[in-house]
Amino acid sequence: MVPAALIETACRPYRAAGRFAWHFAQGKFRHDPFFAHLLANGLIPDGARILDLGSGQGLLAAWLIGAHAWHRGNAATTWPARWPAPPALHSIHGIEMTARDVERARIALKAHAAQVSFVCDDIRVAPFPQADVVVACDVLHYIDAAAQEAVLRRVRACLAPGGVLLLRVSDAAAGWRAGLDRAVDFGMQVARSGRTNALTCRSEAQWRALLDALRFHATLVPMGHGAHDANRLLIARLAG
Ligand SMILES: C[S@@+](CC[C@H](N)C(=O)[O-])C[C@H]1O[C@@H](n2cnc3c(N)ncnc32)[C@H](O)[C@@H]1O
Repeated sequence: MVPAALIETACRPYRAAGRFAWHFAQGKFRHDPFFAHLLANGLIPDGARILDLGSGQGLLAAWLIGAHAWHRGNAATTWPARWPAPPALHSIHGIEMTARDVERARIALKAHAAQVSFVCDDIRVAPFPQADVVVACDVLHYIDAAAQEAVLRRVRACLAPGGVLLLRVSDAAAGWRAGLDRAVDFGMQVARSGRTNALTCRSEAQWRALLDALRFHATLVPMGHGAHDANRLLIARLAG
């Protein structure tokens, strides 16, 4: 169970970025298990340099910074007993194509500008700085199959030794729930950016095969049930 006060802390910076940004953050942190999984499974090490591909309005940064701050004051009382302490970050660099989202992210996280940066760019061409953790949450299906492969090759090249790629995808073989994910993502794309690009989805097996071919060793963290039944979080490490 994610403490409500942790969600409130992570959402607070979005008050400055407008009602949409704040409500959107509330909805995501409350209902998308991705964010809790990062903390519950200790997927991000202390001192990590994080590269966030398709960073949207910067939710990952807000979540990790909020968790670290909130833990400091509440570790002894309400921090979930089975969760490790949240990481202290070195930096987060987000690459996001939608200018309005970059603007929301910059406004919300401006107090952390020394640590957190967002560029308005396309992950197919933007330079990737060296990173300990690369996060690609619900983004690779917005680019075509060849570009997915090219981006993953560049992720491999930018990862420091021991680094990890956290790849959240929807399993295209997961029946109607995968269809629902596609409809939601297509609708969000149109609503937020006006783009109507087709989505390129793969099954979990196809994502694993691609990661394997690119010499990643991938394991899976179950993402829970209900609306997130089709979602898969792949933890991909360099296979040597
Ligand atoms: C479903 S949202 C996920 C946002 C964020 N990862 C999160 O979990 O909150 C996908 C994001 O990827 C962005 N995006 C899609 N194609 C992109 C590209 N080629 N380069 C950079 N960003 C892209 C979209 O604008 C959108 O903000």
